[in-house]
Amino acid sequence: MTDFRYARRSAILGKSVFDHAPGTITMSSGAAYPPLLPDVVREATEAVGPLRAEAMQYAPLMGLDDLRSEICRFVATDGIEAKPENVLVTYGSKSAFDLALRVFVEPGDRVIVTRPTYMTAIHIMRTHNVQFLDIGQDAEGFDTDELERKLMRLRANAEPMPRLLFDVPDFHNPTGITTSLARRKRMVELARQYNFVICEDDPYRRIRFEGESVPPIKSLDTTGHVISLGTVSKILAPGLRVGWAIGEAGIIRRMALQKADGGSNAFAQRIVVQLMQSNKIVHHVDELTAQMRTHRDAMLEAFAEHLPEARIRAPLGGYFLWAELPEGDDAERIAELGVEEGVEVSTGRLSFPGDGPGNCLRLAYSFIGEDEIRRGIAMLGTAYRRYKSAARAA
Ligand SMILES: Cc1ncc(COP(=O)(O)O)c(C=O)c1O
Repeated sequence: MTDFRYARRSAILGKSVFDHAPGTITMSSGAAYPPLLPDVVREATEAVGPLRAEAMQYAPLMGLDDLRSEICRFVATDGIEAKPENVLVTYGSKSAFDLALRVFVEPGDRVIVTRPTYMTAIHIMRTHNVQFLDIGQDAEGFDTDELERKLMRLRANAEPMPRLLFDVPDFHNPTGITTSLARRKRMVELARQYNFVICEDDPYRRIRFEGESVPPIKSLDTTGHVISLGTVSKILAPGLRVGWAIGEAGIIRRMALQKADGGSNAFAQRIVVQLMQSNKIVHHVDELTAQMRTHRDAMLEAFAEHLPEARIRAPLGGYFLWAELPEGDDAERIAELGVEEGVEVSTGRLSFPGDGPGNCLRLAYSFIGEDEIRRGIAMLGTAYRRYKSAARAA
């Protein structure tokens, strides 16, 4: 066999995500709930019919003008003021984040993240060879006091300062926590004071089950230090691969010029334009939110019944639930036993930029219905008891 000389960044993180035994109940990824994938036959027919000359062509580098205008209208309801020149359409928000990293970080630069944070974002950041400045969370979200202390120390020691902060302030992946308004304001102040940009990754804010929504960090930004990353992946369909970045026009143009894909997917963009123009997207989000609430409730009930040892912070929205097992439990081993029982979950370690505690699990309730969720958690409970009895016997 050829001994290829792979780049370091190609090392696969953790367990392979490619191998699912058929029939496995999958709670490891935030995929869309199949029965609620939107029917876009009408929109797609129009795109490939009368609008073929546009939809089958390379899209403009910045995205379709109509879509950029619609995105401005869409985010205005969250209090974000944007003009089309502030909007770049991308292949999903992960791609937008990658473009922001290309524009702002050099290899070796520090990037601020929460501890834990979105596992795929860690992977993307690693491809840029960043160093992590990791910051904790509490019930109010991002710990701005810890960030301030660390920034002050770096400055006092004349160390290189971070250039970028990545966070998921609403229904955080993986912890489900929402950062308070006071903390968001402080984040913006610190960004200004220490001159770094904030990438606010906000795929879940509209999927709120209860409570009042908190203004996006971008809506608090008056100096252009915040880039808002959006996507239709969680509110329509991830297969569309349509997302966006909103920011100061000069930043957005630089990001556009870093694109490796030309103008992104014009066909999917046109479909999204129509779903936004007709407000179908808004009705879809309402339906989806009601559905996700029942999934969340089913998962919470199933944990109470089958795995009461887990400490859970009930998420008020989004797709994910974070479970802390008693200290010392080996979540990786429990997840392996879970696969043997027929359920796949993610170990929490994958969500930590450095060494993290080994007793956490991340579960998505988005992809499967209530019955499967209940069966899956029962299987996880069985896996947990097997783990415990093996540990006692050892
Ligand atoms: C925090 C976060 N950001 C972004 C995404 C989606 O990215 P994309 O728009 O590239 O599909 C996800 C999906 O799991 C996510 O959890």
